[in-house]
Amino acid sequence: MVESWVNSAERIGADLHLDLSESSGPGGRRAALIRALREAVRGGRLAPGTRLPPYRSLAADLGVARNTVADAYAELVAEGWLTARQGSGTRVADRAQPLGRAERAPRKAPPRARGPRHDLRQGTPDASAFPRADWLASYRRALRQAPNEVFGPGDPAGRLELREALTEYLARARGVRTEPDRIVICSGFAHALRLLFSRNTPLPSQKAQDRGGGVLRGPLAVEAYGLGFHRELLAAEGVRTVPLPLDDDGARVDRLVRERAVLLTPAHQFPTGGPLHPRRRAAVIDWARARGGVVLEDDYDGEFRYDRKPVGAVQGLDPERVIFIGSVSKSLSPAVRLGWMVLPERYVGDVLAAKGEREAWASVLDQLGLADFIASGAYDRHVRRMRQRYRSRRDRLVAALAGHAPHVEVTGVAAGLHAVLRLPPGTERSTLKAAAWQGIALDGLAEFRHPEATEPDMPVRDGVVVGYATPSEHAYGAALEALCGALPPDEAAPAHE
Ligand SMILES: Cc1ncc(COP(=O)(O)O)c(C=O)c1O
Repeated sequence: MVESWVNSAERIGADLHLDLSESSGPGGRRAALIRALREAVRGGRLAPGTRLPPYRSLAADLGVARNTVADAYAELVAEGWLTARQGSGTRVADRAQPLGRAERAPRKAPPRARGPRHDLRQGTPDASAFPRADWLASYRRALRQAPNEVFGPGDPAGRLELREALTEYLARARGVRTEPDRIVICSGFAHALRLLFSRNTPLPSQKAQDRGGGVLRGPLAVEAYGLGFHRELLAAEGVRTVPLPLDDDGARVDRLVRERAVLLTPAHQFPTGGPLHPRRRAAVIDWARARGGVVLEDDYDGEFRYDRKPVGAVQGLDPERVIFIGSVSKSLSPAVRLGWMVLPERYVGDVLAAKGEREAWASVLDQLGLADFIASGAYDRHVRRMRQRYRSRRDRLVAALAGHAPHVEVTGVAAGLHAVLRLPPGTERSTLKAAAWQGIALDGLAEFRHPEATEPDMPVRDGVVVGYATPSEHAYGAALEALCGALPPDEAAPAHE
């Protein structure tokens, strides 16, 4: 039996598995090769136009004589399966139909899931704006310059090139105070939460062992409105989350009691939109110092600020009390899956141990690509371009509402990729229904509310979260028009006759 993978991407464009197991039958290997190639063409594994390997290489791959391959090709050319032309080698004939395409009765295409007509859900950056050319250039440069050891197992801390680039960038753009050996690369914010709270890994520090595992342990204080996915992820790790009330100055950090850790979105409260007031930023650091606590700073969209007042990282106030977590999910794309944790010194060993002996999450090649992307200035350029684009979208949203629904209050517009439209009490569900009726996908505030948030401390807020980054540029105007049409009417306005 002769079985082989013809592994010659540059010759035929893909691996081709040829099974010559019946080569002991009539006609021997030549007949077996003809049968195998015919099957490969008929089954569609060799598409029309595909160039076949030269006699010599295929013969070497299969362990047969060169003449056997030459004879097999000649036979298939004669049968019309292949064509042979001077200078372009032997190719699969254009009319060679894969099995089924001609013979099978036409099948109905499966119904395609229809998405919303207007997607105004928060969460995704403008996918059409991914900087493909610059990303490719960085990736190409990084690969060309990479030493061979890059292609072996990776350091769980992440590539030094990326940690150095981030140290410089985060200091400059976000006011983060750190050094490369305090940064651990991960595959995004959600991964960072898992690494910090998972109890499945034995950790080196005595404290972690005394706790029964886990770099950190609950209960964890969180903002009363936040991402349900993160609460669920924490619950799955056995971590209890305790809601903190929110007011116009952000999270009520004065309500922290027994908790040892608090998760905040200080630059742009998610999803309601305001920054944490400077007094509260100082207060949460005081709390952490006094109680031996730690602040988890989720800087998910810190780059996108549209007013003049920059809001730096809380981490800059005390790098030993804050774990700063960022990712490229909003600034570049959630498809990249790269993020970073900037850690107080005492957590570095445990977080590295939680990651394991070698990098198992964040592709080392992607890390090098991102390092070049940041160090070459392409990241800054992209963020600046996107900031302008999102600002203009934000302005169009605000103008559309001022013109068509002036009674609806827009909040959280100084930063980020979404705004919150405050609605009269009791109207959120009907507004979402009206929006769905118009083909608009939108999130209501209720879905972000912590299930244990209680009134009157944590009042229910009616509102919709409008993500203005997702629709393509040409579809945005229509999406805004549809949105204005779905909002509740102004009850105070005089009724028209
Ligand atoms: C509140 C919040 N935190 C963090 C993130 C980033 O998550 P990840 O890095 O896991 O994609 C997002 C989404 O992009 C988010 O909405």
